[in-house]
Amino acid sequence: MESAEIARRFLRFFEERGHTIVPSASLVAEDPTLLLVNAGMVPFKPYFLGQKKPPYPRAASAQKVMRTLDIDEVGKTTRHASFFQMLGNFSFGDYFKDQAIPYAWELLTKPESEGGFGFPEDRLWATVYLDDDEAFGIWHDKVGVPAERIQRRGMADNFWSMGVPGPCGPCTEIYYDRGPEYGAEGGPVADETRYLEVWNNVFMQFERGAGGGKEGFPILGDLPAKSVDTGMGLERMAAILQGVDNIYEIDTTYKILDKAAELTRSRYGRDARADVSLRVVADHLRAGVMLVGDGVLPSNEGRGYVLRRMLRRAIRNLRLLGAGEERYMHELAATTIAAMGDQYPELKSDAAHIHTVIDAEETSFLGTLRTGTAIFDAAVEETKRKGAPVLAGGQAFQLHDTYGFPIDLTLEMAAEQGLRVDEDGFRRLMNEQRDRAKADSAAKKTGNADVSVLGAMLDRAGRVEFLGYDHTLAEATVVGLLVDGASVPAAGAGTTVEVVLDRTPFYAEGGGQLCDQGTIRAGGALVEIVDVQSPFAGLVVHRGKVAQGEIRVGEAVQAEIDVERRRAISRSHTATHLVHRGFRNALGESAAQAGSENSPGRFRFDFTASGAVPVSVLRDVEEEVNAVLVNDLKVHAYHTSLSEARSMGALALFGEKYGDEVRIVEVGDYSRELCGGTHVASSGQLGVVKVLGESSIGAGVRRVEALVGVDAFRFLARESVLVAQLSEQLKVRREELPERVEGIVSRLRAAERELEKLRSARVLEVAGELASSARDIDGVSVVTHRAPDGTSPDDLRKLALDVRGRFPGDRAAMILIAGVPADRPVVVAAVNDAGRGRGLKAGRLVGVAAKALGGGGGGKDDVAQGGGVRAEAIGDALGAVEHAVRETLS
Ligand code: ALA
Repeated sequence: MESAEIARRFLRFFEERGHTIVPSASLVAEDPTLLLVNAGMVPFKPYFLGQKKPPYPRAASAQKVMRTLDIDEVGKTTRHASFFQMLGNFSFGDYFKDQAIPYAWELLTKPESEGGFGFPEDRLWATVYLDDDEAFGIWHDKVGVPAERIQRRGMADNFWSMGVPGPCGPCTEIYYDRGPEYGAEGGPVADETRYLEVWNNVFMQFERGAGGGKEGFPILGDLPAKSVDTGMGLERMAAILQGVDNIYEIDTTYKILDKAAELTRSRYGRDARADVSLRVVADHLRAGVMLVGDGVLPSNEGRGYVLRRMLRRAIRNLRLLGAGEERYMHELAATTIAAMGDQYPELKSDAAHIHTVIDAEETSFLGTLRTGTAIFDAAVEETKRKGAPVLAGGQAFQLHDTYGFPIDLTLEMAAEQGLRVDEDGFRRLMNEQRDRAKADSAAKKTGNADVSVLGAMLDRAGRVEFLGYDHTLAEATVVGLLVDGASVPAAGAGTTVEVVLDRTPFYAEGGGQLCDQGTIRAGGALVEIVDVQSPFAGLVVHRGKVAQGEIRVGEAVQAEIDVERRRAISRSHTATHLVHRGFRNALGESAAQAGSENSPGRFRFDFTASGAVPVSVLRDVEEEVNAVLVNDLKVHAYHTSLSEARSMGALALFGEKYGDEVRIVEVGDYSRELCGGTHVASSGQLGVVKVLGESSIGAGVRRVEALVGVDAFRFLARESVLVAQLSEQLKVRREELPERVEGIVSRLRAAERELEKLRSARVLEVAGELASSARDIDGVSVVTHRAPDGTSPDDLRKLALDVRGRFPGDRAAMILIAGVPADRPVVVAAVNDAGRGRGLKAGRLVGVAAKALGGGGGGKDDVAQGGGVRAEAIGDALGAVEHAVRETLS
């Protein structure tokens, strides 16, 4: 049975039993405690906790999931995979154990011909939590599983939580007995390779706190309702139903593995090391493609780093398989998209973007490998020369930090050289760097507030209502105040405070839009708000200084934003949408937005593109956008369902998280985007958009900067004044300026070349004179001369050689020319063959001169150059050389 069919069957089964089918959420977790979605229940967490009212009492989903804790184990065994899909059915205070268990049993054992998975009943085992007699009873009495096939296990195995604070509860797991050829008798407690876990049913009923590992975390209390969360690993199920040995051999994954083997001319199952590499490539491509599809871009932190690591490990393992400099990622990504595209059609429509990102990462990493390998080799050589067995942590850190060399790569390559790496030292340096970065960004974004204090605020405030689409001024109530991260009842004049209101017209920084600024007033109190952030969805924190009076929790206030600033920011935001559409029109749909910043009068727009955008395209986009302004299209914002928005072709941004209900912003029929930001009422209000230029900000990502409104006008006006000045100074019409400037520049260059020639000729003119005025010292012609100041080092050298060339071959000659090209003295010595025959060496003589000048230098015996710092000592230097010559000859 194909993977896609397994998912279909699962969802159909639960749909027929009153469950709402919920599409997979993005891998990018909405939850601030998680980097990536690590279980099917994550998108439903607020329903379990009672923070949000569930829109349906029961649901089922096939959720994309990533577990990245043991990336290093991926491929080494056949059990681990970083990306997988979890099928799950959920009850939010609706049914509990007595229905969940029979549902699972029915679907597993129902014959394939009737829509089930056709498992023989006698090969299924169940485990329950130690004292969960209720679950035991349901398995035994209601379902009819014999007592000897129901095993009781402790907290580590049969009590589930997300690993972080949140909902949790005891669980019952279902295992499939693969038969004696896979291991010992005795059920899951005896052997988890033979008895394979296929389905976990969690009975969510408690809320847990932080810490305590897998078995000792604190239970804070009961959930508002008893609920069900289940998870069936799609890949494992596929392995069993497709009769293959493990998750790497199932229909979807095997296609990628097979392609990797074909490209690298290796074969799976022949060599254990190569098998590991093939599995790594297959897993990491799947994970990588899914992450890019969900808007993650490779970077050096957070999820971007997870992605980068996966892609780079895949590339590195391709090289271990013998790929050399060949580039295979494009083809492998295409295979992955094809293999997964049945289940995730958006991968096909986003293929161009996915390829751009992955190809760019491959290009940059192959470059990194080339440079990094050279640096690595040098570090290895140095380590070996010292006879040390360990590569220093600082070197590993430098490789990582400066050359983007992942530590696991350094470890692997060092091991190949028989060396270890000081990993502790490396980690210490990494932590120091990370702490610095964290401290910086935390201080900037949310003051010093602890996540838990803010969490408590959110509980108290509920979801803060955003009024700013329609209002610039609003009455609200203070629900919380923070000073230095601690909750306080009141804050007085001079204090920097964070204010949480129940409703607000202030837009919190987000979606590329900078925050509003303004004031919060209450009675005699005035708080000047300079920063507004939303640390969690639904919570808005206003940061500012109490300018006068005292602000208190519970007090009614007027919150008012700076309207001018907001308008200027809104103009930028609308302009960003237009420019996004413009680039897609010009470059194709792969020109997807990768980031933006909308500030007053100015915006930045980042998008994916494989190379620099030609100036002509920038001009075309700019013109198209300005035409939209002139046509004064209405801007219209409204809410609709995500599926409706997608079917209308609204541009969704990679990396943005969308709920079921989304907001669409349309500019006439020109642009349609999902967006929560603020905008102008019609495109004419933007006035002018001026694109300033384009640059690269990373592999495959370009940045355009532009001005809008009065700022754009001022820029153009300034340019215009500049052009007018030039036109007047050069006495030509504006349109003739480029030609005139070009003419001036080329004449200037010609004149400089001419001048240079004349200068050289003049320097050389004296050559004959110098040669004929040479002094004879012991049968050697000696010339020492100071050239005019400003003579270039090159000319000093030419002069020395020219003079030397004027003596017949059998006449020994030594020439020393000194000069001051700029502010420091330079000397050049030249000795001919006959002179060297008498023991004179240019290098040594220059050394003597340079020493007198307070510097150094040397070189070969025939000609050498040096210099110093004391121009006033040139006379002494010439004397010292003459003295040295005499000494040598005597
Ligand atoms: N949330 C449970 C798990 O991930 C079902 O195993």
